[in-house]
Amino acid sequence: MGTRLAARTALITGGSRGIGLAIAEAYAAEGCALALNARDGERLAKVADDLAARHGVPVRAFPCDVTARDAVFAMVAEVEAWRPLDILVNNAGIHVAARFVDYSFEDFKRIMEHNVYGVFHVTQAVLPGLMARRGGRVINLASSAGKWGSRNQSAYNASKHAVVGLTRCLGLEMAPYNVLVNAICPWIVETDMLHDFVAGHAAAIGESPEALVDRYTASVPLQRLIQPREVAGLALYLASDEASYINGQAWAVDGGYTMI
Ligand SMILES: NC(=O)c1ccc[n+]([C@@H]2O[C@H](COP(=O)([O-])OP(=O)(O)OC[C@H]3O[C@@H](n4cnc5c(N)ncnc54)[C@H](OP(=O)(O)O)[C@@H]3O)[C@@H](O)[C@H]2O)c1
Repeated sequence: MGTRLAARTALITGGSRGIGLAIAEAYAAEGCALALNARDGERLAKVADDLAARHGVPVRAFPCDVTARDAVFAMVAEVEAWRPLDILVNNAGIHVAARFVDYSFEDFKRIMEHNVYGVFHVTQAVLPGLMARRGGRVINLASSAGKWGSRNQSAYNASKHAVVGLTRCLGLEMAPYNVLVNAICPWIVETDMLHDFVAGHAAAIGESPEALVDRYTASVPLQRLIQPREVAGLALYLASDEASYINGQAWAVDGGYTMI
């Protein structure tokens, strides 16, 4: 077992699958205690037990919907009573694809509630503890969709641009407390979310999901989609001592899709 995050505790939202689970694996392998969050408590408890058994670190499940502000504050109080937090990974998020003119108000609002207000609630609940202890890391899973425009996902892009904006502002406000705030902006990662958004995009443009994935794959210099562990590597670095002067940045993990 590594020791890069030994004696630290991280709260990872959306830690039961996909990118959040890969980050949990990477942190646990470096000695980090984990408070894992997602809505499905049964699945989360299994993941927590498995990680604790394989990595020998304390791991506990804290099921809660990040869009429910009161429940989020209660969850963070419970986590802090268990172990004071050092690291917050705001990873829980959703995607709904549609042309802008076709987005229902309900879907647009749901995306904002998950991807923006969820981050707002959890971060507001966690920051007082980090500020009081004069140190910590906040790592926000934004997206390449937080850096540029793309078709048929304007609500998602708007939400991820908001996360990047929030990251920059918090990077400024939290620096005096030695709390560093960064965002990760992956391009397309092979998780459950990929299937959700490919289905939505394909329907919006009348293309088959398979053809769309082929087109995405061909359009990136590395000619393949991203694996969750390839995002987790950056999340580990940003949480580690090596990243002690990295703040307020939005890091692309995009295989060279953009080079600016
Ligand atoms: N996949 C990509 O291509 C990609 C690219 C760029 C950025 N991202 C971002 O990376 C993050 C993770 O994406 P992913 O692809 O790993 O997603 P995913 O496979 O769909 O997993 C989402 C995770 O979030 C949890 N979750 C969803 N809504 C929640 C809520 N309201 N409260 C608490 N937990 C919730 C889910 O568990 P439950 O369902 O049990 O709650 C699950 O653990 C997201 O913010 C996403 O926008 C993804």
